[in-house]
Amino acid sequence: MRYGYFDNLNCEYVIDRPDTPWPWINYLGDHEYGAIISNNAGGYSFLRSPGQNRLLRYRFNAVPCDRPGRYIYLRDSETGEFWSHSWSPTQKPLTEHHTECRHGLGYTRITSSFKEIASEACYFVPLDDALEIWNFRLTNRSRRSRTIDVFTYCEFGFPVFTSETALQAILYVASTSFHNGIIGYATPIPGWRTRHSWFASTVAPIGFDTKREAFVGPWRGEDNPLAVELGHCTGSVGAGGNAVGCLHLRFSLEPGESSGTAFLLGEGLAGKEGEAARARYTPEHIAACFAGLKQHWRDRLANLQTKTPDPDMDAMLNVWNPYQAHATFHWSRSATLIEAGLRDGLGYRDTAQDCLAVMHTEADLVRGKIIDLLRGQERRGCALHKVQPLTLETGKGESVPEQEIWSDDHLWLALSVGAYVRETGDLAFLNQTVPWLDKGEGTILDHLVAALEYARANRGPHGLLLCLAADWNDALQLGREGQSVFVSMQFCKACSETADLLKLGGRGEDAGSVKAWRSEMVEAINTHGWDGSWYLRARMNDGSTIGSEQDKVAKIWLEPQPWSVISGVGDNGRGTRAMGSVAERLASDHGIHLFMPPHQGYEENIPGRVCYPPGYKENAAIFCHPNPWAMVAECMLGNGDRAYRYYRALLPSAMNERAELRHIEPYVYGQFVVGSSDPAHGTAHNPWLTGTASWAYVAATQWILGIRPQIDGLLIDPCIPSSWDGFHVRRVFRGATYEITIKNPQHLSRGIRRLCLDGKEYPGNLVPVARKGSKITVSAELQPE
Ligand code: GLC
Repeated sequence: MRYGYFDNLNCEYVIDRPDTPWPWINYLGDHEYGAIISNNAGGYSFLRSPGQNRLLRYRFNAVPCDRPGRYIYLRDSETGEFWSHSWSPTQKPLTEHHTECRHGLGYTRITSSFKEIASEACYFVPLDDALEIWNFRLTNRSRRSRTIDVFTYCEFGFPVFTSETALQAILYVASTSFHNGIIGYATPIPGWRTRHSWFASTVAPIGFDTKREAFVGPWRGEDNPLAVELGHCTGSVGAGGNAVGCLHLRFSLEPGESSGTAFLLGEGLAGKEGEAARARYTPEHIAACFAGLKQHWRDRLANLQTKTPDPDMDAMLNVWNPYQAHATFHWSRSATLIEAGLRDGLGYRDTAQDCLAVMHTEADLVRGKIIDLLRGQERRGCALHKVQPLTLETGKGESVPEQEIWSDDHLWLALSVGAYVRETGDLAFLNQTVPWLDKGEGTILDHLVAALEYARANRGPHGLLLCLAADWNDALQLGREGQSVFVSMQFCKACSETADLLKLGGRGEDAGSVKAWRSEMVEAINTHGWDGSWYLRARMNDGSTIGSEQDKVAKIWLEPQPWSVISGVGDNGRGTRAMGSVAERLASDHGIHLFMPPHQGYEENIPGRVCYPPGYKENAAIFCHPNPWAMVAECMLGNGDRAYRYYRALLPSAMNERAELRHIEPYVYGQFVVGSSDPAHGTAHNPWLTGTASWAYVAATQWILGIRPQIDGLLIDPCIPSSWDGFHVRRVFRGATYEITIKNPQHLSRGIRRLCLDGKEYPGNLVPVARKGSKITVSAELQPE
């Protein structure tokens, strides 16, 4: 069953059935102001931090779902009948209430029609302003004059989300006002300051309420607010209670006539910032801001556009995957309908990986985020698990508490720095100094070496890295008793990357010892980490294993298998063997399981592991984030068919027609898909802010399509399904535009041996860096060895 479709031309996903299995959301805003909006206008807003500076309230995981939101009620003054512009909350029969939601890039447009009144609301955050706009219009499509009363509804939230349940305090600390047509809301925020926000309409209201209790009425809900039923507000205002933004406007429309207003919500004083914004946002200015937003996204996406034989893949790669990767990079894991704001700030490893997919569109922001991360790293090399750049202070001697040191966080840095330097060619970055968290400063190369030194100083009896608080898998908490084979492989990859960067940064003499550290670890892994047909997941210090054929459950784990290929540890043929075992034991039609078989519930004596029900989350779900690692590894091994099969299995758009099963938005990846051990197999969860977005994009663009930035140029090394006749990519790299056409007449997966650059033959498969602003045509054919 489907609830919508991809409108690729307009870069929109169109939901034509509002009763989706779960609220399907979009993000508005991309700098200061952030907002989430569902296909039924549910959602919330915040400034900079969803945990510390919430503007609009949302009731997470409640029934009915997806409340409250940015509601607009309409009431026919003649009949008294009322409905909401979005299908929910009033939920009129779908036979009478026709509605469509278009989630676009940075905006959501909902159109509706009920009883011959058409309405449209376009919600967006302008590029250079920290406020949100609901641009609203209604049209009388009937043959008689109509008077329509319009009421808005949104709930102001308490700024610090974790205090939302401290009702004995928060219900009495805030106050509201109404002056000159604008609602004001004042509430304390940490630091003994008052935060002011406001809600306004560009057309003058004829009534208002600022108290939820007055507008909704006792024992009622957002589906039948008393004020809307009666047709007038009460003018409630003052201290205490729950604050709402309810404005009442009246539109009298002749047949065929349209009218409208913009509703505005922002931070600041109602009488100052509110009034200024209301004056500034004329219809022309709103139209210009909206056009600017659309252009901004078109420019951003233009840096990489694909045309493959697979339209589902193109829909994701050209619009939604980079869009999701951007949201993930920007908001880390802080704001979805599941992430309620408690994981505020930047997850260390998360951001390090999120950077990978946005290098080509926002290198400057990536650079800033990498520096934010490096500032959270101690001189000894380990790092904070979460960095809050808004408040992080370095140089105060702060150290990361031992029990909060993860074994992987600091090891991701080399990958991000390496990718940044290859994308931009900015070698000076490597010797730039950045403060350590505790004291002093070091160059970026010093930071990368320190990460390796810390890892080496924390090895177990088998020479493998200790797992510490956990490694990439948060549920594998083996402390100092267990050694992680996977993170040891990650260390090997970080060593190769750091050695290359040392050479590029003029410190070739240090690269030798880093390479020696790698060789030592490769040997330890191949001596103590191989199980016969795959690599172990971990080895306890007492010699027992996790992820062995000998184990009763969790015999084979995904992560170390692709990483044996990515890190080169399995170059002795074991990588190929391990990936064969993944195909046999872990792969399914909906993706690759994290391990198999699952733990059966909450067993005692699982060494330090959090255990979810079988098939869920880190207990043998199809945990999506490591799936693209398998795609990358298969491409490295030259198995284009298998890489693509894994890609399709996870591809959100490929499940558009089975939305009732997949549940979450068909235009975004989720954190996990329920595994085959559970009847809900195929249902995806935790959409939007997941490292899957970044890795799926990297796997598809850099490995399957094979266009990979290198220091000296753009490598063209596709590894595609053999059924493809070819594909086309437009890629902007260091300011030049490359139009790349690959043909595959012999139906191979891999093998570019020479290129044609602007019509001239060129040996090999590395396109040299071209002049900024130039356009280069690249064509090539896959050929056998
Ligand atoms: C979640 C976390 C991520 C972690 C992964 C595996 O996605 O955000 O940091 O690596 O789970 O446990």
